Parts: sequence; structure tokens; C-alpha cells
Amino acid sequence: MAFEKLFDLLKIGSLEIKNRYGMAPINSMFNDWTGMVSDEDIAFWIARAKGGVGLIIVGSVLCTELGRKLASHQWIHMTGIEHVPRLALLAENIHLCGAKAFIQILPSPGSRARPVSGEMPIAPSADVVYGYADEKAHQIADTLLTKGLTGRWLQEMYTSYPRPREVTEEEINKIIEESAQNAKWAVLAGYDGIEIHTCHHYIVDQFRDPRFNKRTDKYGGNRENRHRFLVEFVDAINGSVKEEKPDFIVGVRVGSECGSDGGYTFDDTKWLAGQLQELGIDYWHTTTGFPLLPAMRRDPKQDGEYLHWSGELKKILRIPVLTPRIHSPFLAEEAVTKGLTDMIMMARPLMADPEFPKKVMENRVEDIKQCKKDEYCRVTELLCLPRRCSVNPELGREKFNPKYQVREGFKGEEMLPYVLRE
Ligand SMILES: Cc1cc2nc3c(=O)[nH]c(=O)nc-3n(C[C@H](O)[C@H](O)[C@H](O)COP(=O)(O)O)c2cc1C
Repeated sequence: MAFEKLFDLLKIGSLEIKNRYGMAPINSMFNDWTGMVSDEDIAFWIARAKGGVGLIIVGSVLCTELGRKLASHQWIHMTGIEHVPRLALLAENIHLCGAKAFIQILPSPGSRARPVSGEMPIAPSADVVYGYADEKAHQIADTLLTKGLTGRWLQEMYTSYPRPREVTEEEINKIIEESAQNAKWAVLAGYDGIEIHTCHHYIVDQFRDPRFNKRTDKYGGNRENRHRFLVEFVDAINGSVKEEKPDFIVGVRVGSECGSDGGYTFDDTKWLAGQLQELGIDYWHTTTGFPLLPAMRRDPKQDGEYLHWSGELKKILRIPVLTPRIHSPFLAEEAVTKGLTDMIMMARPLMADPEFPKKVMENRVEDIKQCKKDEYCRVTELLCLPRRCSVNPELGREKFNPKYQVREGFKGEEMLPYVLRE
């Protein structure tokens, strides 16, 4: 087989994953404002599990009441037992199709997101202008206008970002406590693990970034202080779920560096990796940090652009490192072979073609429907519309395809929630 390494078993903690292809988290936008997992969600992830990925990371999923109040679009929620039955049904269906299931939890957006409730967004410090979102929103609104899709009102709505208020120390403690408590619902719902979202300029990530964090208390100032929220957050969640189930997998998704414009650096990230490893996390998921303006970003079309980070992190970490933004199976095989990463995570390629891993395994690379990297799937988020894909018209409509109904393969005992198995 041409792609041997990609189809090797991977162990994260004591969990065995059948191959090195995973689905990176995407908030699906197929659910409503109650945050319940929808039938569209279940069929969407069934399609990817049937397509051969070894692991699916569901989410991001909002895990605090404050986060729900500050939501900028329709996320899945995990804040109470009312969310558990649908989350459990999703986990069961993913398992039935042969993949493992993690859930990515997000405590709250930061000032990058515009709350639809009209509430002021929160940030480490007040009055820090969110330039990136501004510019990105302008670009997206312009694109929409040139396509004749929307009116000026929408452009105005998405380009005037409200100023944030400073999140209080009391709120920080509450976010940590509530997230640690609500993370336990993932255990009850039958997931194999949890991924802690600390990236992409949402609230925890903004604390790391000196451009956003001007605080003078113990959460601001030097490197240790700027990372205090993140470290306390991860420690609390890791302790909470492992108290519930000691072999439950806990991973982190962390931004690598912001570039040369005053944000956190890769040195900060390497230092943080050492700290989090000592807390007993089970894996690291690489991602980008945010420059303030899109123009400062690396070429978003470059394949494998995070591999230099994961390769460096693998020298420090004794746990598996997961890496997205690798669309070529040839590069993926090479990266795993060279030890630059342990698992290839895909988001857009799997939206474009759910059967991507299966086709690689069967040596049918030429049959893969390739993602065009045209950002079409991201635009819907700003507009609170369901996700769509420019090359895959079935995205979000999988529930109408009989192929993606799970009917067979029930495995009795294994399907019972872990609390009832003994
Ligand atoms: C539509 C969309 C939604 C996303 N949502 C999330 C998210 O909720 N959490 C997260 O950590 N990353 C999110 N990402 C980032 C992806 O997980 C992934 O890192 C990124 O798309 C690069 O990988 P790719 O080239 O395989 O798409 C999202 C990406 C896209 C395109």
C-alpha cells in the first residue's frame, strides 16, 4: 500500500485509533439557538465516520452560560443534562461507524465574536479594537456584495464591531468552574475524550496575546501571568473529567504564534507545552495564532504550513501531536513517516469529500473531490446560515441520503453509556 503510515494504529493515552486521519473540529451551523445536536449534525458526522476517519472531534461546543449569552452564531451547547441525549446519540452513531469521538469545548467567544444578544463581548482588557475581525468582515461583506448576495445593511452590521468590556476575575473563576463541571457531560454522553479550545482569538487565547491583554492583575503582564487563565482552565477540566473516568482523553488546541506583529510567539508556545504536559494532558492539537490583519497571514493556500510547528513541538512533547492543513495525502504520509506529526487532521477536505480517507486507503487519490480553499464554508458563519461547500452540494443535507442513516452494527454492551456497563 502506498500510504502505509497513514493507516497505522495510533494510541492516545490508552485509546486506540484505527488510523492517522482525524476530522478537525468545525462548528457545524446545522443546529439552532437552543444548542441541541440536530439530525443534520448527526448525518453530517456519520458521513465523515463512514468515510474512514479514525477520529472525529465534534465542535466547538459552548460549555458555559456566559458563552451562550455571548454567542455570535449557533453553536452546539453542553451546559446541562438537557443537552446530553442528543450529544450521546451523536457519539453512538460515530462509534457505530468505526471512529472514535472527542468533543471540543469552548468556554466563550472573546471580542472576535459579535454577540447576537446585543450584549457587550468580553475581552481580557476593555477598548482593544479588533482589527482582524474588522478587516476580515469587510472582505467577506465585499465578496458577498460583488456576488449580489446581500445588501449594504449586512455589510454595516458585520463591519462595526462592538467594543468589549473587561472580564472580571470573578467571571474568570466562574468560567473555569463551570467548564470543568460541564465537561463531565461529555463523559456521560459516551465520548472518548475532550479537546480544550484555547485558540483562534477567543477568550482564553486573547489572554495570551499582549495586544489584547493589558491587565495589571495576576492574569496580565509577564508570560506566566498571561498564560495563567489557560493553565488554570486546562488543569481544572483535566482534573474534573479524570476524576469521573481516569482514562478519559484530554487534549488541548493551542495557537502556535501570531507572527511578527506583537502577539505571542512560538517560544511562548513551546514554554506552554512544557507546562501543560506536566498537568497530564494526553495530546496536543496544533493550530495557528492570529495576526491582527489577514494581510499578515501566511499564504492560507499553502499545504502543510503548520508542520514546522508540530515538528518542533514533537521534540518537546511525549504525547501525540495532531496537525491540520495538510490536504495532500502524499505530504501527509511523508509528515507521519518523518515524525513531524502523529495524526493528520482535516476540516475543509472532509467537508468537500467525506470519503477522502477511504479513497486514500484504496489508492484512489485521483477520485478525491478536492477543497478549493475558497473560504466559502466560512462565510456562512458570519451570516448565521448553515454551512455550505462550493464543491460538495450535499454538505449539510446528508440526512436525506440513505447511505448516512445508521441502521446496522449495534454492539449491545458497548453501546451502553459507560456508567451502565459494569
Ligand atoms: C468552517 C470552519 C469552521 C471551523 N470551526 C472550528 C472550530 O469550531 N474549532 C476549531 O478549533 N477550529 C475550527 N476550524 C479550524 C479547523 O479545525 C482547521 O484547523 C482549519 O480549517 C485548517 O484545516 P483544513 O485545512 O484541513 O481545513 C474551522 C474551520 C472551518 C473551515
